[in-house]
Amino acid sequence: PVLVVDFGAQYAQLIARRVREAGVYSEIVPHTVSAEEISARNPVGIVLSGGPSSVYEEGAPRLDPGVFELGVPTLGICYGFQVMARTLGGEVANTGLREYGATDATIITDSVLLEGQPVEQNVWMSHGDQVSEAPAGFTVLARTAATAVAAFANDERRLYGVQWHPEVKHSDHGQQVLENFLHKAAGLPADWNSGNVIAEQVEKIRAQVGSGRVLSALSGGVDSAVSTALVHEAVGDQLTAVFIDHGLLRKGEREQVENDYVASTGVRLITVDARETFLNALAGVSDPEEKRKIIGREFIRAFEKVQADLIADAAAEGDPIRFLVQGTLYPDVVESGGGSGTANIKSHHNVGGLPEDLQFELVEPLRTLFKDEVRAIGRQLGLPEAIVGRQPFPGPGLGIRIVGEVTADRLEILREADAIARAELTAAGLDNEIWQCPVVLLADVRSVGVQGDGRTYGHPIVLRPVSSEDAMTADWTRLPYDVLSKISNRITNEVRDVNRVVLDVTSKPPGTIEWE
Ligand code: XMP
Repeated sequence: PVLVVDFGAQYAQLIARRVREAGVYSEIVPHTVSAEEISARNPVGIVLSGGPSSVYEEGAPRLDPGVFELGVPTLGICYGFQVMARTLGGEVANTGLREYGATDATIITDSVLLEGQPVEQNVWMSHGDQVSEAPAGFTVLARTAATAVAAFANDERRLYGVQWHPEVKHSDHGQQVLENFLHKAAGLPADWNSGNVIAEQVEKIRAQVGSGRVLSALSGGVDSAVSTALVHEAVGDQLTAVFIDHGLLRKGEREQVENDYVASTGVRLITVDARETFLNALAGVSDPEEKRKIIGREFIRAFEKVQADLIADAAAEGDPIRFLVQGTLYPDVVESGGGSGTANIKSHHNVGGLPEDLQFELVEPLRTLFKDEVRAIGRQLGLPEAIVGRQPFPGPGLGIRIVGEVTADRLEILREADAIARAELTAAGLDNEIWQCPVVLLADVRSVGVQGDGRTYGHPIVLRPVSSEDAMTADWTRLPYDVLSKISNRITNEVRDVNRVVLDVTSKPPGTIEWE
């Protein structure tokens, strides 16, 4: 792989995705890995990410200098560029000149890295420190008004760096910088794509599972739908898919799984009605983390129960069920600290929420993939667009969209409000504009309203439409007022106990996408 060294900002994931978009497989490693550990993974290229620190700060993240001696083509970006400069004997200075946002860069020397690019270009900057002197043996490739050394190269050692962020779309020719590095400087072919992933994963799943029997957790979301279809592709009827109706689903979701999904895949499906169990387990609980842990735990318990039942049946065939499919994605792995040592922001239901006494061996064919890659694989596997194109929906479902205790009554209210919001967004043709639109019930908040002739004392519904590329960062979506108005009118008219609809206008950070 190409290894993306994470210096602590969430840019590393974006870089890893962009590298894959260039047809080269990439993985993220923390900056604390040693040169030996890096070497042991046989990288064909290394990209050093940006980061939030200043290279002189006490405890600022560093990199084992041996990494630059491995002979592996390496590209430093922003903070990674400064680390490279400083480690190899250049100068990094704090000149008091900051650059943030769109900046004009000027190419001053021809190079492989910036080949084919206009001399003047618009790049995205975010830095306080700057490289004031390139290390010996390096050629300066570009500058900006504030930064004399905005990019450099040492072709002989195949070491490169840029101060700007080529991974963000605001850098006009950013992707081409990455592609030049990968294909031209490092000589890597563009041969990684969803077709290869399917073939590779099918092999891997067969090797892991052998002739064993496998259970799969279908949630109705994209991730579990695709991971299940992938495992079905690999082992056919050794797989039984189980759909737990935990009562935290949106309107119509159960039917979509039971009908459309089964029709398109031929997967053998068992539906378990666990609504009461979940509600009982959640009774009296308002704390978000506690809810997440309970839901995660009950999910696994429910599966274990199915397993027990199926084992009884399987006993006749002498074949227990040992494996469980999970649709864990790469961002879940990275965010839970499994990929990079970054902070654990929320315990994700399919990673952090697992109980320690888990009875299954996990099969996680999407563990190294990003969402857009999962969708591409789903399409290639022939899943219906209605499932593959679906907006993300969290594993803990509506349980983390009710701020306060989860009850059957509150779920009913939220389900109706959510169905209205979804229907109106679809009717307005906005599904592709938004990444997702959580609809949240503030169950512990009441406000006064007036409906008909009477005073009401009801709950607010929050609309949280967001635009995002990967859910790591997001901005609130500027939905047209008439669509908002329609949603608001319908919800307050049609959903009992709701007398107010409010719009969440917070980006991520600082707000997360979900409210809990
Ligand atoms: P946050 O709220 O952390 O959400 O900004 C980022 C993305 O992850 C989804 N999400 C989850 N998905 N299990 C999941 O499968 C979870 O526990 C979970 N929590 C949040 C959220 O909907 C958004 O797309």
